[in-house]
Amino acid sequence: MSIAHISDMDVTGKRLVVRADLNVPTEGGQITDTTRIDRFAAGMRPLLARGARLVILTHFGRPEPNELNSSFSVDKFRPALAEALGVPVRFSDVCADDSAVILSQQLANGEALLCENLRLNPGETENDPGFAAQLARLGDIYVNDAFSSAHRAHASTEALARLLPAAAGPLLVEELAALGAALDAPRRPSVAIVGGAKVSTKIAVLKHLVQRLDAVIIGGGMANTFLFADGAPMGKSLHEADQVETVREIRRLADKAGCSLHLPQDVVVAREFRAGADSLVVAAGDCPADAMILDAGPKALAAFQTVLSGARTILWNGPLGAFEIPPFDVATVELARSAAERTRQGHAVSVAGGGDTVAALNAAGVTQDFTYVSTAGGAFLEWLEGRTLPGIAALNGAAAAA
Ligand code: 3PG
Ligand code: MG
Repeated sequence: MSIAHISDMDVTGKRLVVRADLNVPTEGGQITDTTRIDRFAAGMRPLLARGARLVILTHFGRPEPNELNSSFSVDKFRPALAEALGVPVRFSDVCADDSAVILSQQLANGEALLCENLRLNPGETENDPGFAAQLARLGDIYVNDAFSSAHRAHASTEALARLLPAAAGPLLVEELAALGAALDAPRRPSVAIVGGAKVSTKIAVLKHLVQRLDAVIIGGGMANTFLFADGAPMGKSLHEADQVETVREIRRLADKAGCSLHLPQDVVVAREFRAGADSLVVAAGDCPADAMILDAGPKALAAFQTVLSGARTILWNGPLGAFEIPPFDVATVELARSAAERTRQGHAVSVAGGGDTVAALNAAGVTQDFTYVSTAGGAFLEWLEGRTLPGIAALNGAAAAA
């Protein structure tokens, strides 16, 4: 099956109903990071230049349906969106109503309309066909450009794709290409770095990755659970005693698939979890009873760097230690720099994404050097699990109609 790309289609004078993900982080009503807006807009500008008329749909936050108050309104994104698109952006305070349809019909070639937060309508998260039919009235072609929402089977990501000719937007195409290069047909050796606090949240990720890649480096709190399963004392370290059987199963799968698992052989421990706390390096099996493991140690880092030194594909999700709190950021920052260096030299393709990962790479100052850094959180993780994302599946099914 194949997905139609909007960039290949005739868009002049057409109203494109574009599902974007402008779910940007905010503080006190101010956007704190415009990456999602900027990347979306970069893909839309050429379409505007070709005379497309954009009707932009997005969610923001998780309001209760009908909980319209200014904190959930997306009107406040208009200035940033207009600046990034390079055209004024009109606003519709509803997304499914005659008034929105009329505003969409008033657009001239190269103009854009933003509609109010989709999730203020109960039909959105319910994937309600009736609500999707209302959205379909807003345009001639449906464009999904929201990879980071593709794990949600909502009206604007799923049902709507079946009601209009449907195509993938430029950002979604870029995202699928980058992710596909890292996991579907990776250049080998391929290495994943998986960190984060808990094994239990990434069981499916680990099971899938050990069956597809040549090596998996495990860090963060979840590495503790692997060490615990091998009999290491944990002291006060974060670990999940109830996940020992899971860890064994992941090891079995890795062995069977010929994937090497790499765990820290030494660790940085401290008695307190605070910036600048006194810390020491001990062997992975020697965590003192009154201390906790907060980072991978220098021998572990060197061993991980050796694994990366041969890698041609590097996939990164999750930090190796408590990277927000120095000095426990060292392994994450240094390994990120090694991955970035290998990418800069043209030896490896590196793809990162998911939750804390972008913050960790930003902290290391290497985001620009990675081949691709996804802004998706949950969708990135579900993709790492090998799951079919409903938003992508709907586009696949719809391609023939386009
Ligand atoms: C995200 O920020 O991960 C996406 O916009 C999806 O948001 P959601 O988790 O509220 O569906
Ligand atoms: Mg999320």
